[in-house]
Amino acid sequence: MSIKQKTLDLKKRMQDALQGGGAQAIEKQVAMGKMTARERIISLLDPNSFHEYDLFVEHAAKDFDMDKKQLPGDGVITGTGTISGYPVCIYAQDFTVAGGSLGLMHARKITKIMDLAMNLKIPIIGINDSGGARIQEGVNSLAGYGEIFFRNTQASGVIPQISVILGPCAGGAVYSPALTDFVFVVDKISKMFITGPEVIKSVLGEEISMEELGGARVHSEITGNAHFFAESEAECFQQIKKLVTYIPWNNSKKAEPFPKKAPKTEEFKIDKIMPADPRQPYDVRDVIKSISDNSEFFEVQELFAANMVVGFGRLNGQTIGFVANQPMVLAGVLDVDSSDKAARFIRFCNAFNIPLVTLVDLPGYLPGIDQEHAGVIRHGAKILYSYSEATVPKVTIILRKAYGGGYIAMCSRHLRADFVFAWPTAEIAVMGPEGAANIIFRSEIKNAENPEEMRKKKVEEYKEKFANPYVAAAHGYVDAVIEPHDTRKFVLHALEISATKEQLIPTKKHGIPPF
Ligand code: HXC
Repeated sequence: MSIKQKTLDLKKRMQDALQGGGAQAIEKQVAMGKMTARERIISLLDPNSFHEYDLFVEHAAKDFDMDKKQLPGDGVITGTGTISGYPVCIYAQDFTVAGGSLGLMHARKITKIMDLAMNLKIPIIGINDSGGARIQEGVNSLAGYGEIFFRNTQASGVIPQISVILGPCAGGAVYSPALTDFVFVVDKISKMFITGPEVIKSVLGEEISMEELGGARVHSEITGNAHFFAESEAECFQQIKKLVTYIPWNNSKKAEPFPKKAPKTEEFKIDKIMPADPRQPYDVRDVIKSISDNSEFFEVQELFAANMVVGFGRLNGQTIGFVANQPMVLAGVLDVDSSDKAARFIRFCNAFNIPLVTLVDLPGYLPGIDQEHAGVIRHGAKILYSYSEATVPKVTIILRKAYGGGYIAMCSRHLRADFVFAWPTAEIAVMGPEGAANIIFRSEIKNAENPEEMRKKKVEEYKEKFANPYVAAAHGYVDAVIEPHDTRKFVLHALEISATKEQLIPTKKHGIPPF
């Protein structure tokens, strides 16, 4: 063959491979409202930045007439590229080719690009759209999943791992996303479950649709498996593009700094946020926006356990992880789900050198049989563990209530916050004034001529004495009581002065967090 013929041959081979599962399968994909795998990668990455590898990989299966079948790229597209200049390794399963099912070579393509991401120390993005283990390839498919899970675990805390669910992700396949840092889902398109509706019906006789069982809303609102919910694939890609601006390439770097910007103080007036009545709620996100650069806050798991708010913002251009109780939902109480949510976010920030700013306003852990039986002890311990092990700079601001275990858990001095500030509205005590007065003044209230009046008096007495920041400040547990409008100034200074922070942890193989 002449060079010209060889070039034409290459072009023909590429053209064939780029057809994926063919026109009919692509039509079906589009009819489901889904982009093709290659379109997804191209939409997500910077224009012309995608470089594809292993286009000519072929499957190795022989049984069930598989040797007569051609599966272009073996149902997965892999390569490297950039997102706003941020380098990534990426793979996207191609549902048009054998339902994106995972066989031996498909898995090898994925593990090869994961290995590259680890060697280059850059993030890995996986777009999942697959019928799961390729049934015809038997144990080789299972081996493939095992190899992926192992790498997900090795990469955890070293490079950011992002999973995007854009189709079915069923059976054991769900465990790769579950092992990664951020899971993105799209309404009506994402479906995740271990056993599908048909198995559930045959084993348990229960009927449920795929959407109700494991749709995007279910994983965003109920299970907490997903971190970002989008209405469309295009919106989902915008969310990923935004996320990568906040996080570093790997655990030895910091997130790229942004130009410094002041908060929009006209819109978010910090001195006006706290209601006069301490029982009234407010939106803690307004406090975050009143101190963050340009009043921007990129919330993570917005729809799950909304009594806890977590997400990214910037202070003087540096990425910050915000963790805050949300008084608007269940008074910001700590429970099973909110503890899980916060603990995982704190660990991500710690692994990737992102300082933590914690805003406290909560009545404590949620009481109740449901919570106790759901394991609030075990789950609640996760937040204590995560804050205690975190060595990044930690700044805590007590806005209002900080009662009981909640006071300790929300990055108190005792869990090694570097700086603890309190607003004058802070109430730091073992429990709320009403409950406390009822217990410690029980006999005085009971024996009073007018018990109700006496109760009110004692509650006021308790509030006066304990429901303030000054007892904690007198012990040095609070470093400074500050006016709300000074919050940004104090936090900025605290973070600047913490830039050289080095905290050693005891030598160990690893800790044993209360998983
Ligand atoms: C081989 C598969 C496949 C699979 C789909 N296909 N799943 N081939 N192995 N697991 C093929 C179909 O045969 C079909 O091929 C093409 O992909 C498209 O599939 P359809 O069924 O036509 O598509 P759709 O109607 O959209 O349904 C999608 C689906 C369904 C819901 C995902 O295909 C399905 O239920 N698949 C099986 C899911 C499953 O049980 N997987 C195994 C899970 S166990 P043709 O040639 O007709 O176009 C597992 C264990 C992993 O994953 C454990 C790891 C620890």
